Amino acid sequence: MFRPRRLRKNPVVRELIAETRLSKDMFIYPYFVVPGNGVTKAIDAMPGINHFSTDTLLKDVEKGLKLGVNKIMLFGVGDEKSDDAKSAFDPNSLVPVAVKQLKQNFGDDLYVVTDVCVCSYTTHGHCGIMKDDYIQNDLSVDLIAKMALAHAAAGADMLAPSDMMDGRVAAIRSTLEQNGFANTAIMSHATKFASAYYGPFREAADCAPNKGDRKAYQMDYRNGTEAVREALLDESEGADVLMVKPALAYLDIISKLKQNSDLPIACYNVSGEYSMIKAAAQKGWIDEQKVVMETMHAFARAGASIITTYHIRDIVEQGWMP
Ligand code: PBG
Ligand code: ZN
Repeated sequence: MFRPRRLRKNPVVRELIAETRLSKDMFIYPYFVVPGNGVTKAIDAMPGINHFSTDTLLKDVEKGLKLGVNKIMLFGVGDEKSDDAKSAFDPNSLVPVAVKQLKQNFGDDLYVVTDVCVCSYTTHGHCGIMKDDYIQNDLSVDLIAKMALAHAAAGADMLAPSDMMDGRVAAIRSTLEQNGFANTAIMSHATKFASAYYGPFREAADCAPNKGDRKAYQMDYRNGTEAVREALLDESEGADVLMVKPALAYLDIISKLKQNSDLPIACYNVSGEYSMIKAAAQKGWIDEQKVVMETMHAFARAGASIITTYHIRDIVEQGWMP
């Protein structure tokens, strides 16, 4: 009789046959940068996550680096908003300035990813240029490519476009090539779904649309086959990494992309997923460490080799990594 329990007999044999192993090298930690000096302001709906000004950001990054958190993703919050989102590509806006300082201080010890999207810079809060109540694809792509170039010029190692306009990966890639940034990587939010799990983030990044929703550009969560097509398009346009977002309710998509592409597959464990665990843990309803680690292993088991998560600082600070 074949007895699967033989290989579950004790911790040593369980370690021997474990199919999925995590390493802190797989993780990217997101940060929100705001204007000012000396700012460390808690984000209510995301316990443990703060708004930082550039100076306090540098200090917190240094703390993280000592624990091995050496890949971060930056979001700018609080730059001037306008209909044409011009501060999105201003080299003196928050993100380019922060990137410059981070790279000056930490060089290649720190890998800096930037979110490339204009929703924190538009008056209406949508991820592109609005005309006739519609987000205009190609006008938005031009803007997004300019923003990507500003981040690359500041020294960003990797750009993560999160807007979901058609053709933006190709536009960013050719803009980078033409301007001497052939080595700047693109991690495309290849399949980003219109999701209610972004709720806490929109408070954190002050980017909620003031009218309508994002369903005319982000994907419909009912579609898995389309997700593969959408992702392969980004691969053909020159993406280096394909990301699935959100993550927990989309493990099937991670798995499908893993089967259909040879590129590294990333996932974004988004704000609402984080806040649900934090809230239940604060109430004493779940064991935070166990739930977080089970969740992280699930992402890896599904096929993600890169995990963007707000949990990684807790994981390393509290010694949860196996
Ligand atoms: C905006 C953006 C969003 C997130 C990252 N970039 C929200 C949205 O599309 O409305 C969500 C991240 C998170 O929830 O942690 N382009
Ligand atoms: Zn956006």
